Amino acid sequence: MISALTPEPPPEPLPLSQPLLVRKAQMRDIAPLLRLINGYAAVGIMLPRTEFEISENIRDFTLIFAGDRLAGCGALHFYSPSVGEIRSFAVDSELKAHGIGGRLVEALVVEAEQYGLDAVFAFTYVVGFFTKAGFTEAERGLLPLKVWKDCLRCPKFDCCDEVAMVRVLRPEKWRQTHGQVDEEESPLQIFRSQVMLPTVKK
Ligand SMILES: CC(C)(COP(=O)(O)OP(=O)(O)OC[C@H]1O[C@@H](n2cnc3c(N)ncnc32)[C@H](O)[C@@H]1OP(=O)(O)O)[C@@H](O)C(=O)NCCC(=O)NCCS
Repeated sequence: MISALTPEPPPEPLPLSQPLLVRKAQMRDIAPLLRLINGYAAVGIMLPRTEFEISENIRDFTLIFAGDRLAGCGALHFYSPSVGEIRSFAVDSELKAHGIGGRLVEALVVEAEQYGLDAVFAFTYVVGFFTKAGFTEAERGLLPLKVWKDCLRCPKFDCCDEVAMVRVLRPEKWRQTHGQVDEEESPLQIFRSQVMLPTVKK
């Protein structure tokens, strides 16, 4: 007797033999972007995003494709004339450990440099990955306003365990704008002198 059940088709081979394409996001990318980001958000690794938020910030996003498949995404979000955040950063779980994240973070850093930023930061659980990408740990309480906007709706608001990391892009500019900096000063110390929380006026 022939079974009524059709066997599962074999899984598609991973598209890693195809050249990787890095480009800015377009509106037609919103559906796969939501799947990628909210897949990780569902297991508590990333902040969830809505269609509205992605649409509003679509110009922040740089994407990397393996063939037609969205392999990774990352956003560069500005907070001041000199500082931006790399956020909503993810690589398709089936395509990790092939250099895709490294390529994407460099594309975002190049974009930050083109905009003349002095530093970029990220909040992350993957300290090793960002360390490889030239970031160093920073004290979270000293980072800019973002934090208070996004964190307010984060499920981990009271128990945040993400690490703040920064990559200084233009130490000389930083020095010129913010006075003499000790040659021995670490990127963290330089960053601290630049990005302080605002004083709340009563
Ligand atoms: C973190 C993430 C983006 C890395 O992407 P990836 O494509 O696997 O990274 P790459 O293959 O480009 O790795 C680049 C380097 O970082 C290292 N690295 C990658 N993930 C790492 C990790 N979790 N811990 C330590 N080092 C890591 C790699 O070993 C590699 O080092 P090498 O250059 O010496 O070989 C991916 O694992 C991911 O999407 N994670 C879930 C979402 C997430 O945590 N996003 C960050 C939010 S800020």
